Amino acid sequence: MYAVIGATGNTGRVVAEDLLAAGLPVRAIGRSEERLATLVEKGAEAAVGDVSDAEFVARACDGVGGVYHLIPPRYDVDLLAWQTESGKALVSGIRDAGVPYVVNLSSVGAQHREGTGPIAGLREQEDRFNELTETNVLHLRPGWFMENMYMMLDAIRGMGVLGMPIPGDLPVPMIATRDIGAEAARRLAALDFDGHHIKELLGPREYTLTEVAAIIGAAIGQPDLPYVTVPEEAAAEGFEQMGAHPATVSAFLEMYRGFGEGRVVAQEARSAANTTPTTLEEFAVGLAAAYNA
Ligand SMILES: NC(=O)c1ccc[n+]([C@@H]2O[C@H](COP(=O)([O-])OP(=O)(O)OC[C@H]3O[C@@H](n4cnc5c(N)ncnc54)[C@H](OP(=O)(O)O)[C@@H]3O)[C@@H](O)[C@H]2O)c1
Repeated sequence: MYAVIGATGNTGRVVAEDLLAAGLPVRAIGRSEERLATLVEKGAEAAVGDVSDAEFVARACDGVGGVYHLIPPRYDVDLLAWQTESGKALVSGIRDAGVPYVVNLSSVGAQHREGTGPIAGLREQEDRFNELTETNVLHLRPGWFMENMYMMLDAIRGMGVLGMPIPGDLPVPMIATRDIGAEAARRLAALDFDGHHIKELLGPREYTLTEVAAIIGAAIGQPDLPYVTVPEEAAAEGFEQMGAHPATVSAFLEMYRGFGEGRVVAQEARSAANTTPTTLEEFAVGLAAAYNA
């Protein structure tokens, strides 16, 4: 049996579906029976509860051979405090359940313990897992999720620009979450790691934000969509309008500075092993459908 945390989310859904498609048993974890229903229809067991409850996590992971783990993001509270609270509960529950294998979703940039906002919280979680000497842990460190672009659609519609507080000419590894889920499922099915390992996943190539605007612009029928580097104050205002907690806004600004100042970068040279297939052009087809819906 495999347990999948965040089974209704971007990466977890793919992990659960790929494991089920390989004929492997899955316990899908989330807060809503209704949202888990499509996975149950495909053969998964549902475990409904909150990952900040260590006893729930231990019950949900009872008897499983491998766990796909992530810290669910929360923006309405202090994100870093939430990462600590839920991260401790998750590790404690997984340890108490005696799970032998964990694939942990971390991030590019987690080589640093500070100066990277929420990524530093993911590094703390790596450290917590690395204290479990009896558990084999594979830390996946993917690049920037292409799915982040869904959050930009309203601003593109409203202002006719793609804007972020990142220089437009900075090459950033960007990855489709489908490819992260596929790698996680493959490694959980194979259980081909022991001890504690790190694997970066760098997408098909690096893209600059200026290139991103051109690719997305072409897909949505606005080939001249410009990219603008927005000042931090304007970015903060945007996050606040989306309901983000002030501490979370600060954390994201620190992460964006981490990109610009060279901390949120890959450590490995690009290779076949850390390159994933889905291009931004392919991803943009689905993004354009959402934009035009
Ligand atoms: N965005 C990026 O560029 C990027 C890059 C690298 C790493 N990351 C990391 O990736 C992770 C997010 O992964 P993702 O995009 O696959 O997830 P996601 O799409 O944000 O989904 C979160 C999942 O967690 C579940 N969930 C939320 N709160 C929960 C709670 N309190 N208890 C139990 N389940 C809960 C949600 O299900 P229900 O709502 O149905 O409960 C959902 O299945 C974060 O840790 C983030 O820091 C992000």
